[in-house]
Amino acid sequence: MTRFVPDLEIDGERLLTRLEALAECGALTGTAGCNRLALTDADREGRDLVMSWMRDLGLAVRVDAIGNVVGVLEGTDPGPPVMTGSHIDTVRTGGRYDGCLGVLAGLEVIETVVMSGVRLPRSLAVAVFTNEEGARFAPDMLGSLVYVGAMPVESALEITDASRASVGDELERIGYRGATHCPGEVPSAFVELHIEQGPVLEREGRTIGVVTGVQGISWTELVLSGQSNHAGTTPMGLRRDPMVPAARIAVFVREMSDRRGGSQVGTVGALTANPNLVNVVPASVRMTVDLRNTDDEVLAVARAEMLEYAERVCEAESVRLEDSVLAASDSVRFDDGVVELIGNVAIEQGHQPWKLPSGAGHDAQMLARVCPTAMIFVPSRDGLSHNPAEFTEPDDLVAGANVLLHTLLRLANQP
Ligand code: GLV
Ligand code: MN
Ligand code: MN
Repeated sequence: MTRFVPDLEIDGERLLTRLEALAECGALTGTAGCNRLALTDADREGRDLVMSWMRDLGLAVRVDAIGNVVGVLEGTDPGPPVMTGSHIDTVRTGGRYDGCLGVLAGLEVIETVVMSGVRLPRSLAVAVFTNEEGARFAPDMLGSLVYVGAMPVESALEITDASRASVGDELERIGYRGATHCPGEVPSAFVELHIEQGPVLEREGRTIGVVTGVQGISWTELVLSGQSNHAGTTPMGLRRDPMVPAARIAVFVREMSDRRGGSQVGTVGALTANPNLVNVVPASVRMTVDLRNTDDEVLAVARAEMLEYAERVCEAESVRLEDSVLAASDSVRFDDGVVELIGNVAIEQGHQPWKLPSGAGHDAQMLARVCPTAMIFVPSRDGLSHNPAEFTEPDDLVAGANVLLHTLLRLANQP
């Protein structure tokens, strides 16, 4: 039995070819990007492709009750696997690397191990988690949340999108409502490779980021209801126009985030007027507020301040305000041991790794609730992500996958 494999390298061409093939599923014509919103036909197409690769490799593939797909390469010893993975769903205007790199690099690591003939004591698993983006069904990181038992699968299946289609029905429709029980088996460790989606590694001239944790995330939906009326005949003084407080709230989110500084960020990313017509004072406006901070207390205060302001400006326009939590996750600190291991592996491979927290949410932050977890980042050109122009140099993608390979080998070589 071969256990020690210092020179093993992933097949970069195979990884890059698979990334391109997956990007064909839901490809946004005229761009390099993808629209593979969770549980759409394009998501099904992507899942089918990744599952076919897992099966070709001879992995034991299971689909669980929330549609997470897990492929396992059995180790020589019994016990829980070392797990890697990410997601393949995208935002409506997504790139080709966010999530997909983590899944396909995980698959590539396993293929490299299989081809080398190495038998590892621990099993290796690669997961594709359902609806990480939360762009169609809130909250984000839904599949990994259910996987770790932080949300009952029954509740997750009832979540609906804007057109009232439910997670359960959509999973059924695309054939991914699986039989494997949730919560899933607790891995012995979890490591996720992801593009940084921010500007830090590029600015610092580094190829490998070692992620120390993830900032807290708060998503709020606001529905403002006023009085719909004729745009030409309704005197200004008699209006109850929900667009006016909505616009004030959007500006407030920006100004409050600027004023707080530090890691505070704030975004109004969705805003829809109803009926959304040029000559009609809207009846209602639905908008979202995404607030994030590495400090959970500061984040809670920022959210409370935003809501207090929203109530005040709605009252001034005699507009009714309803608010609901779409997603709320505390900041996460990754496991010191796994962080150190990734840093050591990166140094051994000739990199000067850079430690940084993640601004984006990731499945790894859910896995961190149940097992030692950390992440590897590779640079994003111009810090762009959630954008079809998202790009990472092929050499950096391959370098990240090799750091993932040797991190997983160390973890899986432990008896
Ligand atoms: C997930 O991509 C997020 O919004 O951070
Ligand atoms: Mn992602
Ligand atoms: Mn994303």
